Amino acid sequence: MKFRTFEMERWQSVYENAVEFNLSESGVHPATLAEVGLDPQEFADIRLSYSPSNGTERFRRLAASLQDGASPDNILVTIGGAEANFHAVMRVLEPGDDALLILPNYMEVHGIVENFGGRVIPVWTRMENGWIPDPDEIAAKITPKTKFISLSNPNNPTAQVFGADIVKAIAAVAGKHGCWILSDEVYRGAERDGVRSPSFWGIYPKTIVTQSLSKAYGTPGLRIGWVVAPEEDIAAMWAQSDYTKIAPPLMSDLVGCRVLENREKLYARTRELINRNWPGFRKWLDQRAGMLNWLEPKGAAICMVKYKHPINSTLLAERLRTEKSTLIVPGDHFGMDGYVRFGFGTEEDYTHAGLVRVGEMLDSLKQ
Ligand SMILES: Cc1ncc(COP(=O)(O)O)c(C=O)c1O
Repeated sequence: MKFRTFEMERWQSVYENAVEFNLSESGVHPATLAEVGLDPQEFADIRLSYSPSNGTERFRRLAASLQDGASPDNILVTIGGAEANFHAVMRVLEPGDDALLILPNYMEVHGIVENFGGRVIPVWTRMENGWIPDPDEIAAKITPKTKFISLSNPNNPTAQVFGADIVKAIAAVAGKHGCWILSDEVYRGAERDGVRSPSFWGIYPKTIVTQSLSKAYGTPGLRIGWVVAPEEDIAAMWAQSDYTKIAPPLMSDLVGCRVLENREKLYARTRELINRNWPGFRKWLDQRAGMLNWLEPKGAAICMVKYKHPINSTLLAERLRTEKSTLIVPGDHFGMDGYVRFGFGTEEDYTHAGLVRVGEMLDSLKQ
């Protein structure tokens, strides 16, 4: 089977540790074990066995407590949100099916659908409309073969939040056509104003939510995520995951429990990092206001920026990498040339120094 390349992840995998300034990351500066509330001594006597293959009961109970009406039987622990998305699509898609994707989006589901013989039906959001989808447009694009509607909320790459009215309207469209909703909610908890974005879980029964400790919690190195779904679908995805991981890493499940127990502290940390860094980034953007357009991010440490400079986005990112040792994500990776995505969730001085390099390049291209 031929897999199409997951362009953004390949770009980051190959170069993020090879540049001086990595502004391609969508999460915040990673938390330490101490910030998570752990003393490594606690691990001294732990026996490194296989963990329960669907995740420990303790972890699944904690994850379930984040979703109205969910129980541990509605949870499957995965290797990050990435594996969670993989199982969600595998569960509902058959070759020849259509999948309606609200774009731009983290392109994983897009790639999986195409790799496994499905057809992507795009519904684009636009900056002029606040990057918010139009439920009527979604309804108009549904075909008899549409198996699911996929979206991320808060959204990557726009960092906008779809409110309760939009979530309900999309659920109503799905209900009318009997489609699944695949809702990637890995940035839930990273909202700048601290108001939790609405989940599809509890609103519409044919919902699969994917989640992760990577973004809102600042612990991507744990590689822990989970799926929230109806019990029989969790059972089926658990069987699928016998092929992909056998079990989540024991240590990560254990540390992950502490992360979830201390979640309010970690959400606050994430929020503080984003809110601390945004004014500096905004100032940098304002200085180039005639050439750049953007919307203020609401729910992640990222910003999708439209530029007027006469250069293709991949070429711009490539030149920044090779000439300025700075990594950003080209809009081409989202099917949106003319845009670039910046991550600004890491340390303030580091972000600033990277932006100075990008500024030098952009200002030279303007002339
Ligand atoms: C929307 C979205 N879903 C899933 C993932 C995968 O995250 P994880 O590190 O949890 O595998 C990402 C990573 O950037 C993402 O942006």
